[in-house]
Amino acid sequence: MSATVERLRAPVADGDRAALLALETAVEARPLGWAALGAEAGWDDGCLLVLRGADGGLGGFASARLLAGTAHVLRCTVAPEHRRRGHGRALLAGLLAWADAAGADAVTLEVRTGNAAARALYAGAGFAEVGRRRRYYADGEDAVLMTRPAG
Ligand SMILES: CC(C)(COP(=O)(O)OP(=O)(O)OC[C@H]1O[C@@H](n2cnc3c(N)ncnc32)[C@H](O)[C@@H]1OP(=O)(O)O)[C@@H](O)C(=O)NCCC(=O)NCCS
Repeated sequence: MSATVERLRAPVADGDRAALLALETAVEARPLGWAALGAEAGWDDGCLLVLRGADGGLGGFASARLLAGTAHVLRCTVAPEHRRRGHGRALLAGLLAWADAAGADAVTLEVRTGNAAARALYAGAGFAEVGRRRRYYADGEDAVLMTRPAG
C-alpha cells in the first residue's frame, strides 16, 4: 500500500467516517465507535491521524491527546494486510511531530506486556519503559508504561 499520513479533522466526510468505523471494527477487539472517533477528530488538544492509500482508502489510524502538558498516545493501529511495511512507524512519527509542535513536555503510553510488535515499534521511536500498571486491561493483562521525552 502506497500511503500517506494525514490528520483527520471534524467535520469528517461520510466516506471517511464509514471507512474508519469499518477499519476499527475489523481490527479492534473492543471498537469504541463513532462517539470516540468523532470526538478525537474534533479535539483541539489532540489529534487523529489516518493512513490514506493512493485509492483514498484508509489502512490505519492513530491518536493522541494532551493532558496536563503531556501527550498520551491512545491508539496506533494498522490493518493486518498492511503491516510490516513501515506504516505504524509513519503514524507514530506523525503523532510525535504533532506532540512536539504542541509543546508537549513528554509523550507517554500504555501497551500490553504481551504486545511485542507494539513494544518494539515504540522502543524504536525512542520510548523507554518506565513502569508497569498491574492488571490494567479488562482481561487482567498488565500494561507497560512507556515515555519519550520532548523532541
Ligand atoms: C503495532 C502495529 C501498529 C505496527 O504496525 P506496522 O505497520 O506493522 O509496523 P511497522 O511496519 O511500521 O514496523 C515498525 C517497527 O515495529 C516493530 N514491529 C512491527 N511489527 C512487529 C512484529 N510483528 N514483531 C516484532 N516487531 C514488530 C519493528 O521494530 C518494526 O521495525 P522493523 O520493520 O525495522 O523491524 C501493528 O502491529 C498493529 O496495528 N497492531 C495491532 C494494534 C496494536 O497493538 N497497536 C498498539 C496498541 S498500544
